[in-house]
Amino acid sequence: MKDFITLSDWSTKELWGLIDLAVHLKFEWKSGGNRPIMHGKTLAMVFEKPSLRTRVSFEVAMKQLGGDAIRIGPDEVGLGKRESVADVARVLAVYTQGIMARVFDHEYVLELAKWADVPVINGLSDAHHPCQAMGDMLTIYEHFGRLERLKIAYVGDGNNVAASLVLAAAHFGMQFTIASPDGYMLSEEALEAAAPIAERNGGKIEVFNDPVKAVEGADIIYTDTWVSMGQEKETAQRMDMLKPYQVNKELVDKADKYAIVMHCLPAHRGHEITDDVADGTHSVIFPQAENRLHMQKAILVELLG
Ligand code: CP
Ligand code: NVA
Repeated sequence: MKDFITLSDWSTKELWGLIDLAVHLKFEWKSGGNRPIMHGKTLAMVFEKPSLRTRVSFEVAMKQLGGDAIRIGPDEVGLGKRESVADVARVLAVYTQGIMARVFDHEYVLELAKWADVPVINGLSDAHHPCQAMGDMLTIYEHFGRLERLKIAYVGDGNNVAASLVLAAAHFGMQFTIASPDGYMLSEEALEAAAPIAERNGGKIEVFNDPVKAVEGADIIYTDTWVSMGQEKETAQRMDMLKPYQVNKELVDKADKYAIVMHCLPAHRGHEITDDVADGTHSVIFPQAENRLHMQKAILVELLG
């Protein structure tokens, strides 16, 4: 049973397959509609955290492919509280053909995958956000016509989004730089998982404290919130430490003249990104959000189709 939990579990060839499939399904959708590949299939979507893009894009993806999706919120399922993760997994696998889960503890999504004999998709955990990173690769690929040798600079908190992004960049032979303050760096675990993949594919990974060094000559500048879901108690300290890592006009001017600016959203305007950059000529944040839909379709077809 194939799952979609982290980008280290998939080969570079398989991930290229997802990009090609997403391009195809996007074209098909825009040319009049997708074939009903998911007819008779239902996706269970389990949420321990809020979501706009992930929830709506997965649900719409299933419906546009002729299937259905059910959102199960934290009050209903009580993952690991009302009922064990293993029991939830086995019950959902009886009713549905796939499970997408957004969780705090990454172990929960691994536990779901262990017990469910239907595919499990990680819709974000504290450690990874693989669907986001693949949607982002689709956006970059459409914009530049390639992925290999592009320089992507991530500025800010070394979080779940950054962990999946470094893996994606490694698979696609990109140069990945990240600038974060001490204490908010990308985990050693993520860097160690990405290093051999980058080496195999001609990619490069560099870690900095200085955002200016990271974005020099970058084709893509990427940022995300300074306070991820579940870290609300650390807000004051995080705001203070990450303040010098704001993606503003001054920083964007240090990158390539034709650089694009990306953000997985939700954005905290005036914090990690300024309004003029988020809404400016370099920004691709809304096409980026749109591509979540097309990439989810590819992931669904690959796993449940
Ligand atoms: N980028 C993203 O995953 O957005 P949501 O949290 O709204 O799903
Ligand atoms: N890093 C953010 C991403 C939201 C899509 C979080 O985990 O809250």
